[in-house]
Amino acid sequence: MNDKERILELREQLHTHNYNYYVLNRPAISDQEFDHLMHELEALEQQHPDMYDANSPTQRVGSDLSQDFPTVRHIRPMLSLANTYNLDEIREFYQRVSNGLNGQPFQICAELKYDGLSIALHYEKGRLVQAVTRGDGVQGDDVTGNVRTIRTIPLVLNGGVPDEFEIRGEILMPWSSFERLNRERSEEGEELFANPRNAASGTLKSKDSRIVAHRGLDAYLYYLLGEDLPGEGHYQRMQTAREWGFNVSNDIKLCDTLQDVWDYITYWDTHRKELPVATDGIVLKVNSLAQQRSLGMTAKSPRWAIAYKFQAEQASTILHEVTFQVGRTGIITPVANMSPVLLSGTMVHRATLHNQDVMDALNLHIGDNVLIEKGGEIIPKIVDIDWEQTNPECRGAKIDFITHCPVCGTPLQRNADEASTFCPNDRECAPQIIGRMEHFVSRKAMNINMIGSELINSYFNTGLVHDVSDLYYMQHDAKIRQSIEDSKQVPFERVLFALGIRFVGETAAKVLARKYKDIDSLSQASIESLLETDGIGQVIAASVYTYLRDDRNIALINRLRQAGLQFALSETQLTQHSNTLEGQTIVISGVFAHHSRDEYKRMIEQHGGKNSGSISAKTSFILAGDNMGPAKLEKAQKLGIRIVNEEEFLSMIE
Ligand code: IVH
Repeated sequence: MNDKERILELREQLHTHNYNYYVLNRPAISDQEFDHLMHELEALEQQHPDMYDANSPTQRVGSDLSQDFPTVRHIRPMLSLANTYNLDEIREFYQRVSNGLNGQPFQICAELKYDGLSIALHYEKGRLVQAVTRGDGVQGDDVTGNVRTIRTIPLVLNGGVPDEFEIRGEILMPWSSFERLNRERSEEGEELFANPRNAASGTLKSKDSRIVAHRGLDAYLYYLLGEDLPGEGHYQRMQTAREWGFNVSNDIKLCDTLQDVWDYITYWDTHRKELPVATDGIVLKVNSLAQQRSLGMTAKSPRWAIAYKFQAEQASTILHEVTFQVGRTGIITPVANMSPVLLSGTMVHRATLHNQDVMDALNLHIGDNVLIEKGGEIIPKIVDIDWEQTNPECRGAKIDFITHCPVCGTPLQRNADEASTFCPNDRECAPQIIGRMEHFVSRKAMNINMIGSELINSYFNTGLVHDVSDLYYMQHDAKIRQSIEDSKQVPFERVLFALGIRFVGETAAKVLARKYKDIDSLSQASIESLLETDGIGQVIAASVYTYLRDDRNIALINRLRQAGLQFALSETQLTQHSNTLEGQTIVISGVFAHHSRDEYKRMIEQHGGKNSGSISAKTSFILAGDNMGPAKLEKAQKLGIRIVNEEEFLSMIE
């Protein structure tokens, strides 16, 4: 068997093992054996870039090339469902269906309603070609690159599938991944995601598909659309979809009577808490496709389906006080302190009130009984005053949002169009300085892992350190000294992130570093120029612009630069984007439509490949445009060298 046949064989085997593992939960080989096959495939694909395939199992790791999400039209519009919280309306739905079918018998397929974001996956000839978010139902974002990294979504299907079809489902972040992610974010001083749905949606819109690959998203599929699909019932179709390779829930059930439906609802209202992913209700669908057709649609949603939403769990408790926390960027968060109460299995005594608007809307008084709720959220929230237990005639003092910083006493500010209130005294306000230092040393920033929160607090409180630059000019013991020394090699983009410029996260720091290449050019950039950068909008641009014009920030940067930190991209970063073409010798020939020949030459080098003027046995492939010379063509054919066109080449290095 030659390399190319082996590549195809490995891909097929790995697809099957993925399916066994992620869909059937029945791995047939050990993780180690799996990794072994994967490494073999990676190595072979490196040697044969012409065998590139976006649907290869190796592509699940994602790429850091920033991507845009073009808006595309759905092939079939994505409808939503009628929603209800009310069991009587389920009875009415059942009756309406029965009347609509003139009393014919019918079955209902009952399913869990997964609480994530819906996705439409388009397959052609058994291969994933496009993944589109719901958007407004008519058009959505093309997030194919990110979706490819989700391991429960098959890239290539198990034989015998229709030529073209669409399958819809929900992308979710399992509780375990969600908790891990928030733990990491809290260590990094980053804002936490309120619930797995927000986390999944933030992740799916990430410009860096490696982030998506890392965050462990999952997917359940629940609706098949297309011509010539097998089966006359929804339930049967979903079983077939599972055989094709899709992750279809095992908890869907056919109900013959309304009583069966009640039993399903009652069972899952409690047992859903044991599931690895968030659900917020159940969905009922008329099973027979013929009956679905005969019932038809209203303007907004099908008449053959309804969603029933579970009530979020609530508890009532007494509010004692509201405290105000100051974050690293000066933002003030009000936190309610309450008598401990049991809610969804955990004792709760604090709840976030988010910001001034949320607090004002609740109109809280000391001693009020409040209703707290934990919907999809981990952090409970106050949804209302519990008027059954609060006497409107005799309430405690009204709780107002503060006007001055609780730590440094500076008058607070709030910008128009922003929900948050902040303390502007970023130079002297202790939690802000300490928060910035914690951010600076954190793993994704300078990674000075020998200095933790406690040490920072003690450095600050004893007056040893006033800002992060002091860390580089003071005496340390040996271990810390080494990790400080190491941090001087941290690349520019992470140094930029470490500075803690408001709104500049990892991704923004990366694109700014790549575009401007060093701090001096970035400092000179106009707002217009900043705005022309991918992913940089008004808010970030203004923040960067102002930050770099503040004398004290300039002094800080100079002091850090003098200490030896990286304020420019390194030589290798400047020239190389990836090593996709490493070891490849490529000949360019013909006329091109998308880029000039020189641009292609540069791209080849930027991805680690070598340009060559003449075809020989050493040539890995020919990048051919139109009108490739006949002599070259003949030689290439004789030597059996593959010819790659522009589009193929661009997707190879994408
Ligand atoms: S079926 C035309 N089944 O809930 C029918 N939807 O409120 C299409 N959802 O937009 C949807 N779990 O995002 C269906 N088992 C399930 C579902 C489900 C969650 C979501 C979906 C839909 C929304 C409707």
